[in-house]
Amino acid sequence: MVPLKRRKTVPSDTGSTGTDGGPTRFPQVVLFLLERKMGASRRAFLSKLGRQKGFQVEEVFSETVTHVISENNYGDEVRTWLHSQGGGPGRAAPVLLLDISWYTESMRAGRPVEILDAHKLQEQQTSETEVVLFLVSSYACQRRTTLDNQNSTVTDALSLLAENAELSEEDGRGVAFRRAAAVLKALPATVTDTSQLRGLPCLGEHSLRVIREILENGASSEVDSTKQSERFKALKVLTGIFGVGAKTADRWFREGIHDLHRLRASGQTLNRAQQAGLDHYDDLNQPVSRAEADAIGDIVRNAVVSVSAEARVALTGGFRRGKPAGHDVDFLVTHPEEGREVGLMPKVVSWLESQGFLLYQKITRNSYLESKDGPGRAASNMDRFERCFSIFKLPEGENRGAEEPETENASRTETARRWRAVRVDLVVSPISQFAFAQLGWTGSKLFERELRRWAGHEKAMSLSSHALYDNKQSRYLRAASEEEIFAHLGLEFVPPSERNA
Ligand code: CTP
Ligand code: MN
Ligand code: MN
Repeated sequence: MVPLKRRKTVPSDTGSTGTDGGPTRFPQVVLFLLERKMGASRRAFLSKLGRQKGFQVEEVFSETVTHVISENNYGDEVRTWLHSQGGGPGRAAPVLLLDISWYTESMRAGRPVEILDAHKLQEQQTSETEVVLFLVSSYACQRRTTLDNQNSTVTDALSLLAENAELSEEDGRGVAFRRAAAVLKALPATVTDTSQLRGLPCLGEHSLRVIREILENGASSEVDSTKQSERFKALKVLTGIFGVGAKTADRWFREGIHDLHRLRASGQTLNRAQQAGLDHYDDLNQPVSRAEADAIGDIVRNAVVSVSAEARVALTGGFRRGKPAGHDVDFLVTHPEEGREVGLMPKVVSWLESQGFLLYQKITRNSYLESKDGPGRAASNMDRFERCFSIFKLPEGENRGAEEPETENASRTETARRWRAVRVDLVVSPISQFAFAQLGWTGSKLFERELRRWAGHEKAMSLSSHALYDNKQSRYLRAASEEEIFAHLGLEFVPPSERNA
């Protein structure tokens, strides 16, 4: 048994009396309950109980603590934690690491009971077989990532840091966090211990630090402070306006515009997209449901068929990956006869406009010409199909939920609104490029990025949403299906529902 530490000083301000009870009855015993695995509410309950019994139970770990009490923790886990608190071996007097059983027995006895072997923390078997290790390929396009994410606490945290980096135009850092998150999304089970991270690809020092913090304490201080920061909150609101990117939002933020109210009052000149984005802000920041996506699909199909009977429409983007909700709905339009897709977009848009389905639209012309562009630019992530970024006016139908929130618009007209605004992307592709367009627009964004990185680094090929070019053979590789593109790339086919990296 280790003798109790004889303490020379007792802090006068907080320490010597229990807050809930009378004066401390056992001055040589300063307790600290570890929240890890115990949980905050149980810890609060047990701490209060201890104080009522006259024990000194500290809220915060410090030099004065003599006993650390934990529940369901192994010795090495608590020692690692202690080390991170500066309470490692270098400390003047050793801290006792005890199991909760010692605490509860002491509470029952009304005094610190003798420390028996059963009260000491168990040591973890460190043999490799005890730890579930994961084998993960390093490119997201080699992995199967379903929507069934077993590590969402950690991946949400990493995604938030990625978003913050992207909002600060630190794209490199953003990608690093996205890659780390994607590795954890692909794991078949929940990571419970940092030892399981061994050998996983794409986990940089920073990401590892965040993951460790979450595994050990249930939260990351960096993530929490980012979430709370004025700048992050303001940039999220401002980039939530359709047509406003990180650069514009940052400029506005520096000019003191931190919310929509101040933006409206500022007299800033907004372009047509931003004005529409501001007008329909609430609707566009409310997720689009699958039912709404299907309703929009019907409208788009009607429009396309009215303009050209043989033309085809395919759902793409997040909904093709099986997501139950999205920020927009993405469609690809093509024609079975090469060349007949030319001119489709303006006609489709006119039809939609004439039926009153569009609140905003902007068509961008097709600027891709294989003979001119060549493979050198194929790796760019912006494709050059004829496309239309739009905002639909979706009439309320049987696919919509019955409850409509009170909106500015409704109160202005004093009639219940019978529609909502939805972002829709339309892309027209010639049939010869359709498989590439489908692969390029299905996403996820990281999956796409990783496909292009794989093509370039591992295969000396350039992949875009238009074509695949083999740099060694100096020729384009044609494909009529996504399966053929994966085969050209030497990758196992990954279906859309498993591209949720
Ligand atoms: N994309 C693109 N060029 C753009 C915009 C998007 O190639 N200018 C591609 C993206 O790479 C992505 C796909 O289109 O693979 C869908 O993008 P987006 O609608 O932004 O994302 P989703 O995955 O559909 O997610 P969400 O549900 O939020 O819409
Ligand atoms: Mn989308
Ligand atoms: Mn989109």
